[in-house]
Amino acid sequence: MSLEEKFADRTAKVAIMGLGYAGLPVAVAFAQAGLRTVGLDPDERRVAALNAGQSYIKDVSPEEVRDLVERHLLRASRDFSNLAHVDAILICVPTPLTPNREPDLQYIQAATEQVARFLLPGQLVVLESTTYPGTTEEVLLPQFEARGLTVGRDFFLAFSPERVDPGSQWRLRNTPKVVGGITERCREAAVALYRCVCDQVVPVSSTRVAELTKLLENIFRNVNIALVNELALLCHRMGIDVWEVIEASATKPFGFMKFTPGPGVGGHCVPADPFYLSWKANQYDFRTRFIELAGEVNWNMPYYVVQRISEVLNREGKCLNGSRLLLLGAAYKSNIDDTRESPFYKVAELLRQAGAEILYHDPYVSEVKVGEEHYTSVPLTPETLSEVDGVVLVTDHDAYDHAFIVEHAPWILDTRNAFRDFKAAHIFKM
Ligand SMILES: NC(=O)c1ccc[n+]([C@@H]2O[C@H](COP(=O)([O-])OP(=O)(O)OC[C@H]3O[C@@H](n4cnc5c(N)ncnc54)[C@H](O)[C@@H]3O)[C@@H](O)[C@H]2O)c1
Repeated sequence: MSLEEKFADRTAKVAIMGLGYAGLPVAVAFAQAGLRTVGLDPDERRVAALNAGQSYIKDVSPEEVRDLVERHLLRASRDFSNLAHVDAILICVPTPLTPNREPDLQYIQAATEQVARFLLPGQLVVLESTTYPGTTEEVLLPQFEARGLTVGRDFFLAFSPERVDPGSQWRLRNTPKVVGGITERCREAAVALYRCVCDQVVPVSSTRVAELTKLLENIFRNVNIALVNELALLCHRMGIDVWEVIEASATKPFGFMKFTPGPGVGGHCVPADPFYLSWKANQYDFRTRFIELAGEVNWNMPYYVVQRISEVLNREGKCLNGSRLLLLGAAYKSNIDDTRESPFYKVAELLRQAGAEILYHDPYVSEVKVGEEHYTSVPLTPETLSEVDGVVLVTDHDAYDHAFIVEHAPWILDTRNAFRDFKAAHIFKM
């Protein structure tokens, strides 16, 4: 039976390597499509949670995990020899940066070695981790072919970027899936696999095109956010409301896409991914100036937020040193519990360095560590709001009762235009 036939009649077995924000929803989607799915992850807690029918990711409900585990469609394991019993292997491991802001491929390397150990004729391997163009061909392929197997004939290798957007309505099913194969046969096998879980699959001519597609998407976001962030700084100086300008520009029905300013860029992807391309571009004696400039502008935003807090305090004859401030929202964006690379950390750290005492509240994040200090989310009561010198909205969650905050806070510095519907002298825009 061919791979395509096994995918079509759902008899194929799938392994997902890496059960994180990207991998867990993928594993759940394949299991829901009726394919027996095993998630492989060295993280003991994640494996145990999944096998107990629990979910540790907000976008995946415990009910759906429990249902799939009970029906034996989904399970998790730390035993990588499971790779020898599946038809398709999807790699969803982290791709962070090193302290020098260079690609850190240690997780991809480790996953590649594990797959290479068990690789069998007939298997399809797809890399989903975000990475620079050339990774699948230059890092994975040579290690697999060293097993004496030929790509496109004995085994199949493809790249398909993970496009999940945590907290949004865009899921694997309704987000078009870009797929590039090392050979045409590889691409066809990967397209057949993703047809099980995606309404639309977009085949492209190579793994390098698929790899760069994902980077372009994130660089596009990063550059456009930097553009409106810079405009926010200028508008403040000129006494123009940047949000009003953006809303007015967004009424143009063509040729404009709305991006909004904020205290910086967070998440595992948007701040880090562009540097994967810069690093690769260097090998071609090419400088990616847009990426570097956008990184610089966005990187400076927390410093600007702290400057604005200082200005607001100054109006009352107060200074940062000795002030008591409540930060709202530690997650890197609205309605999620992920704090990775959140600008909250930099804002909090700068405030602490300036001698301010900080408290924070986030309905989804119960604890954070800023520098060496651990903080617990404080309850959002009239007392907590009124007993601080000021409140800084870093991330706006739908769960926030804005009217309640306006009523009790001495003043609010709003970095997200969350209080746009309130006209009050104690609300300051970023
Ligand atoms: N988080 C997102 O919203 C998002 C969106 C699109 C793309 N991505 C990309 O997806 C990839 C994974 O990101 P994430 O956010 O899911 O990371 P994550 O840290 O949430 O999860 C990664 C998981 O991989 C596991 N892991 C590490 N080494 C492993 C190995 N050798 N074998 C098996 N599992 C291993 C870790 O234990 C962890 O559970 C990254 O390349 C990221 O850029 C993430």
